[in-house]
Amino acid sequence: MIVRKAELVATCALWKQLPEDDLPEIALAGRSNVGKSSLINRMLNRRQLARTSAVPGKTQTLNFYRINDELYFVDFPGYGYAKASRGERQKWGKLIERYLLERRQLRLLLLLIDIRHPPTALDRMMYEWAAHHRLPLCLVATKSDKLSRMQAGKHAAQIRHMLKVPEAVPVIPFSSETGEGRDALWAVILEAAGERNEQPDSRAAEGGADLRDVPEGRRP
Ligand code: GTP
Ligand code: MG
Repeated sequence: MIVRKAELVATCALWKQLPEDDLPEIALAGRSNVGKSSLINRMLNRRQLARTSAVPGKTQTLNFYRINDELYFVDFPGYGYAKASRGERQKWGKLIERYLLERRQLRLLLLLIDIRHPPTALDRMMYEWAAHHRLPLCLVATKSDKLSRMQAGKHAAQIRHMLKVPEAVPVIPFSSETGEGRDALWAVILEAAGERNEQPDSRAAEGGADLRDVPEGRRP
């Protein structure tokens, strides 16, 4: 993937602030400090487009990055960040939940989990919630540079096993430091972004879209 253009076009705290064009959206969720913003920078080969920090809680709004005028990455505030006030967390929580359940443009949710540790209770909750709602998912096991290649493979398999992730859902070891996993992740993202765009046409030939195939929460 050649990134010609990447820009932060919206930072949203309210539903009505979400961008109104129709580009496919790839969202990133994961606990605070897991590496969501760093992953965006590495995928785009931009150093500090998405602001990162060693202090958790850097990202505080839904941030929309438009790439090549083709798709968006949507960076979420991390969960499990103790310092944010309860009110703040509830506000984001509501917006994120509504976004994940209702946003028509959402094509893929990247769920980031630190490869060094077993999934936390919050990771598990997030995964189970997303799987229950049949969101299109890809797991990304971050900070793979912190382990040997063999350990990284083993830990990624453990994450799959512990969360009972079906084979159809990828678990990709990824490092924002070395770029490991970048190509594999782009392949998954581009497939997800393209797939549903093409659906209306191919389905029209078969007699139109069938809503039964669309997860309930995502029906128009
Ligand atoms: P919030 O915005 O607080 O939710 O955090 P985030 O998930 O966006 O994390 P961020 O990208 O800001 O990274 C947090 C810290 O982890 C930073 O100090 C990064 O440098 C570090 N980090 C992120 N990805 C990697 C990685 O792949 N390898 C290593 N070694 N460090 C990483
Ligand atoms: Mg961030």
